Amino acid sequence: MRVGVLTGGGDCPGLNAVIRAVVRKGVTEYGYDFLGFRDGWKGPLEGLTSELGIPEVRGILPRGGTILGSSRTNPMKIEGGVDRIKANLAALGVDALIAIGGEDTLGVATQLHDRGVPVVGVPKTIDNDLSATDYTFGFDTAVNIASEAIDRLHTTAESHHRVLVVEVMGRHAGWIALHAGLSAGANIILIPEQPFDLDEVIGWVESRFESHYSPIIVVSEGALPKDGGLITKDQTLDAFGHVRLTGIGDWLASAIEARTGKEARTSVLGHIQRGGTPTAFDRVLATRFGLQAIDAIHDREYGVMVALRGTDIVRVSLIEATGVLKTVPQARYDEVRTFFG
Ligand code: F6P
Repeated sequence: MRVGVLTGGGDCPGLNAVIRAVVRKGVTEYGYDFLGFRDGWKGPLEGLTSELGIPEVRGILPRGGTILGSSRTNPMKIEGGVDRIKANLAALGVDALIAIGGEDTLGVATQLHDRGVPVVGVPKTIDNDLSATDYTFGFDTAVNIASEAIDRLHTTAESHHRVLVVEVMGRHAGWIALHAGLSAGANIILIPEQPFDLDEVIGWVESRFESHYSPIIVVSEGALPKDGGLITKDQTLDAFGHVRLTGIGDWLASAIEARTGKEARTSVLGHIQRGGTPTAFDRVLATRFGLQAIDAIHDREYGVMVALRGTDIVRVSLIEATGVLKTVPQARYDEVRTFFG
């Protein structure tokens, strides 16, 4: 059995831990051999491969990024893309594929599976917005990075009596903002699921100053004001049709400064949240996902994604996993509102 492995979409800490676990178990327990595909779906589409065996996965457990490279290539948008992938897999003798990715990468995996490609998915994204799994790996690392940043911003905000706005990642779902903001004691948390009222935000900022503290606002990049659309710096779209986000943090700081007369600054954490070594939680989760993914291949159970349910790793259908995004429910947002202002 020859198994292809690829990592697609935005990278995140823990990808290498999955690759290592897949290869270690696949080689030693099942006697499989592996082929790495470079740069997400671009690899099988263009036949871009790299060796993948025990020597290649040595020492990569704590390393961020992905040894296979990644991209946001969408083969569904390319004329004859599916046929090219099928032909390349056949020519390279690849019997099954493990696709490690988020909603877009696994959305492609779902469609390829429908067209006869044997594929198993592994959920990754710092955004934690994939349905059917309690957590995706990468999320815990991103939350820890953002939480530490907010801790640091508290002290400098106090020294200068400023409002500090922290913009974190989260395109459609505010999980990073919610968890990082809650863990680091943010005074206001704004997420895409809950369009915000600027007047209410100004009220919370003022009440925070009245109690002699400097407000820290955590805002997801995809958050938006109630009476306006998404605020972005440019309109460039990727191959999956997503606009490049960032801009809401600066917009908010300017609006607060104009309305309150208090100095307001923004820190955009951006890709810092995606880089570097994974937390122990993410290493364990990614490793367990990898072990279960190769077991699914061994059982010839394709069209599934491995998922965390409680403390168990289970298999769910790719359709279930990619059908709807997992967003922050109202009750979770109501919990954190206790601490606003
Ligand atoms: O999907 C994960 C993510 O980190 C989003 O939170 C963010 O909007 C996006 O990727 C940024 O992607 P890129 O690095 O391609 O600009």
